[in-house]
Amino acid sequence: METDVSELRDQLALKTEELDNLRQELEETNSGVLALYAELDTQADQLRHATELKSRFLAYMSHEFRTPVSAIRSLSRLLLDRVDGPLTDEQEKQIRFIQTTSTEFAEMVDDLLDLAKVEAGRVEISPAWFEMVDLFSALRGMYKPVLINPDVVLIFEEPHGDNLLYNDDKKLAQILRNFISNALKFTLKGEVRVAAVQSSEDVITFSVSDTGIGISEEFHGAIFKDFVQIDSPIQKRLRGTGLGLSLSKRLAELLGGTVALESTLGRGSTFSVSVPLRFPLPQGAEGGVHCE
Ligand SMILES: Nc1ncnc2c1ncn2[C@@H]1O[C@H](COP(=O)(O)OP(=O)(O)OP(=O)(O)O)[C@@H](O)[C@H]1O
Ligand SMILES: [Mg+2]
Repeated sequence: METDVSELRDQLALKTEELDNLRQELEETNSGVLALYAELDTQADQLRHATELKSRFLAYMSHEFRTPVSAIRSLSRLLLDRVDGPLTDEQEKQIRFIQTTSTEFAEMVDDLLDLAKVEAGRVEISPAWFEMVDLFSALRGMYKPVLINPDVVLIFEEPHGDNLLYNDDKKLAQILRNFISNALKFTLKGEVRVAAVQSSEDVITFSVSDTGIGISEEFHGAIFKDFVQIDSPIQKRLRGTGLGLSLSKRLAELLGGTVALESTLGRGSTFSVSVPLRFPLPQGAEGGVHCE
């Protein structure tokens, strides 16, 4: 009896010690987890700060670039207009080169500025009522003077479904412009077809299909990321920054929509953007909506 009790007491002491050890271990783990949390918090703060700095730097830089670039563009236009007297053929060639490169540079600066604005949550979405036919005819007018390849036709199909939209037509046009410019850039022969189809009761899908070089499946995911360009003989001849599609994707998301790609290498590509027919207005908001 006596031995039983003392054995039990020993076992109890052992268990208590084990429990104490466990409690101590738990406490240590606990404080470890707390320290990790604190570290994560600090890192999240640092990351937020870094992203903010990057956006601000991009915004300032792009803004500061705009003035000199537009001065170069206007001066080359003046020279080409012979305001300061005649030009030799060679001078004209060189000034045209200055003009095209500075235009490309200005476009790149605009894209960078837009991206910085999107990242900083400073893009204003201004929804308004507009008709799809008007959007298409504005785009058609814009591309008429730049269609130089006689082997490619640009077709705007008659829009299907609800013709009246309540969304930001300028942002939508910006997305479609990039799709169309890309399609024209990467299509040597055939057609570029722009269409609008109401894909569900409240969603409209705009698509730009081309019969160009196409994009292999492995790149479909990456193509919408910043600065991604795919190596091809055409790419080597052309400039561009690889920002157009990532900007388009972000703009589509701000409009409450999505972008998509279907493409087969060597056959052609279809880029599409689906947006709500009626931009969802937050309760009580009117006119311009500020997107954070
Ligand atoms: N219609 C297309 N057919 C084939 N490849 C395409 C097509 N559209 C885009 N791409 C590929 O995706 C890349 C990224 O396109 P994105 O519009 O982002 O950049 P970019 O046109 O090269 O330059 P930027 O638009 O900034 O001037 C292109 O460089 C090209 O490799
Ligand atoms: Mg582009």
